[in-house]
Amino acid sequence: MQQILDQLENKGWAVSKNFMEKEIYDQLKKEIRVLWKENDFDKAGIGRGINYQPHSEIRKDYIHWLNPSELTSPQKHYWEKMEKLQHEINNYFYLNLHELEAHYAAFPIGSFYKKHLDQFKSVGARLISTILYLNEDWKEADGGALRIYSNGSEDFLDIYPEENSFVCFRSDLIYHEVLPTNRQRYSLTGWFRRRVNPLEF
Ligand code: OGA
Ligand code: NI
Repeated sequence: MQQILDQLENKGWAVSKNFMEKEIYDQLKKEIRVLWKENDFDKAGIGRGINYQPHSEIRKDYIHWLNPSELTSPQKHYWEKMEKLQHEINNYFYLNLHELEAHYAAFPIGSFYKKHLDQFKSVGARLISTILYLNEDWKEADGGALRIYSNGSEDFLDIYPEENSFVCFRSDLIYHEVLPTNRQRYSLTGWFRRRVNPLEF
């Protein structure tokens, strides 16, 4: 995990291969496909509460939120690993992240998510975004890269959503997008949030 902390510190984002234990990874990979088959996904939208609207010119993915009080066994392993990472990030950067949220995401063929930041302007709670990719044998021709724009500049780097690779980045600083995918694309996306006083915004 130290490598993740170093990369976050130097670049504002980090990549790590073979992130979850193989057995747990296989279970997560299977679980998301079952949920998809059972139609247990909602169309993703932009904004929260009364500002929520499905926005298909901006994003075309489908999501399934994890419920922290009803985690399945592989989800529990994932959640514990995220809590551990959150704890290390807190210690290393003197932060106060105490909340976790996560959803499975499915991008059907032809879908994308245009360039954006993960922090809602009205709610400054999301500080770190995390993504675990759940796809086998992803080829460049499959498209669907995560394009990360380095800190404020137009330079970018494409990361393919390969099996058991993990990406995390500063939600408030790192612009990113998902390029159109030519193949169904699965992931487990999460955010570390700091506690916000509802009177602050
Ligand atoms: C997001 C997002 C990137 C990806 O859900 O906000 O940018 O690679 N996802 O799935
Ligand atoms: Ni995003």
